[in-house]
Amino acid sequence: MVLEFDPAFIQAPEHRPKPAVAEAGSIPLIDLSPLHLLEQHGGPLVAELEVLVAQVEAACRDWGFFQVINHGVPPAVVERAWAASRGFFALPPEERRRVRRDEVNPLGYYEAENTKNVRDWKEVFDFVVHEPAVIPSPGDAGGGVDRLIELRNQWPQFPHGFREALVEYAQATEELVFKLLELISLTLSLPPKRLHSFFKDQTSFIRLNHYPPCSSPHLALGVGRHKDAGALTILAQDDVGGLDVRRRSDGEWVRVKPIPNSFIINVGDIVQVWSNDKYESAEHRVLVNSERERFSIPFFFNPAHYVMVKPLPELVDEKNPAKYEEYNWGEFFKTRKNSDFKKLDVENIQIYHFKKAK
Ligand code: OGA
Ligand code: NI
Repeated sequence: MVLEFDPAFIQAPEHRPKPAVAEAGSIPLIDLSPLHLLEQHGGPLVAELEVLVAQVEAACRDWGFFQVINHGVPPAVVERAWAASRGFFALPPEERRRVRRDEVNPLGYYEAENTKNVRDWKEVFDFVVHEPAVIPSPGDAGGGVDRLIELRNQWPQFPHGFREALVEYAQATEELVFKLLELISLTLSLPPKRLHSFFKDQTSFIRLNHYPPCSSPHLALGVGRHKDAGALTILAQDDVGGLDVRRRSDGEWVRVKPIPNSFIINVGDIVQVWSNDKYESAEHRVLVNSERERFSIPFFFNPAHYVMVKPLPELVDEKNPAKYEEYNWGEFFKTRKNSDFKKLDVENIQIYHFKKAK
């Protein structure tokens, strides 16, 4: 029997998942218990915090990815977010489509996203963390003067308590992401709040990912290989597993093992540019399987649309010149979003397009 499998989902042979992915030697696990010590004012860092900063520095340098425990987000808050997500994706399709994203509003439900021009085996629900989020109009072509639009969330009527659960989740994880930002600043020998102002009018959004079982898991991917474009991502995953990270040392794909009550943190392209390549935004992808559906919830921590992204002046000098031309976050985000929305003939936008010639 020939299985009907929509060719839109089929990955090129070199990108299809190979059965053997290393599970050993995976991303570092970091205990964030000393995080409350960030509250101290001035003075040298206490020893515990210094150890934590060193761990985060090594993880960002060697992997661009790590897992955290004792992060301070209450388990009950995370539980309620999972319940909301499961409830939403269990609704009949016509109910989910009532809040479907369209050409005008890129927020809400969507089931036809592409990564690098191949369709992902997933459906998503997106909402912004701060409303309204101001971004350049996604319909406009690049190059000219952009119209700005105000994004507002589309909340479904069902399941009951969906919005409340996710707003609560957003508040709790936002607190964590600002602490992680302080840690990253410390690892770059900068004052802890050095990067905060970029997030004043942040364009962060949270995505509920649902990966249904797939009849041809060897041909498709839940999310094709990609790097996250923003500053940082905080990801909650369930116990199914399927996230692979490209190991910097040898280029191998490594599976991230689910750990209860943990989050996966990764640095995005913006931190790579700010750090002038001290840190690298790691490539990752999601495998699907034929038996179990999988859920995950990434928080994409993004700056204001008007932020010009470039290596931080404190980190460059004559010996270490800036490796990137500056670029505008809103433009980058818009261009990337447009390519996720429809298949284009050209490669989607990447930070290496802003890399200076040597
Ligand atoms: C993403 C992503 C990973 C996952 O949505 O950008 O990388 O495990 N998701 O769902
Ligand atoms: Ni990602």
